[in-house]
Amino acid sequence: MRFLVTAGPTREFLDPVRFLSNPSTGKMGFAVARAARAAGHDVTLVAGPVALRTPLGVRRIDVVSARDMLAAVEREDFDCLVATAAVADWRPARCAAAKLKKRAMADTLRLVRNPDILKTVAAKFAHVRRRKVFIGFAAETGEPSAEAARKCREKGLDLVVANDVTAAGSGFGTATNRVTFVHADGRIERLPLLTKAAVARRIVRFASQTAAAAHR
Ligand code: PMT
Repeated sequence: MRFLVTAGPTREFLDPVRFLSNPSTGKMGFAVARAARAAGHDVTLVAGPVALRTPLGVRRIDVVSARDMLAAVEREDFDCLVATAAVADWRPARCAAAKLKKRAMADTLRLVRNPDILKTVAAKFAHVRRRKVFIGFAAETGEPSAEAARKCREKGLDLVVANDVTAAGSGFGTATNRVTFVHADGRIERLPLLTKAAVARRIVRFASQTAAAAHR
């Protein structure tokens, strides 16, 4: 299968020296890319600004902003999209060409919505007969499965991997993750605390099984 994986944060600049972002390190997404490659798949990784080495045999495209990430994803063909990236939902309404002087800056920042990459791309393929597999993540603070089920429905996904990013050993920057698989049919699978590599292997197995079932 051709896997397309998004990873890391995005940066939304308001001038050449300031941006909005989040603490994603890319570990979860790189683990998915590595696991998919190890299972013999063809893998492209679209990565926001992170300090990780590209897994062996994986093709990597570096991007900065949410709009760059959407453009990169839209250029690629794939059988399974795994969206682990922590995409900034908002960006400054304008980005100044030169560094803003503190005295010239307003106390409030006007923001505009960024495109939802996963929703946009999943909607494009919603009516294809032999559908592609779409897997999203849900980063929540607190019990994540209700929000994840909503995201699964709204974005038309096969699976949402929900994580409580405030739980110990879970979420941003950790080597482990405690996730809940929320399936399109409403089934909920709570997994124990696992390494991100082990979570990634389960995601890749789910994708292969879903694709195989669709082609039977
Ligand atoms: O990178 P690490 O340090 O290893 O941390 C891992 C992680 C915490 C970033 C990861 O496990 C995780 O939860 N990723 C999703 C973070 C997120 O942005 O969640 P969300 O609930 O805001 O978004 C839901 C889904 O829509 C995600 O699949 C996201 O990639 C996608 N999305 C969101 C917004 C947007 N504009 N475009 C999107 O495609």
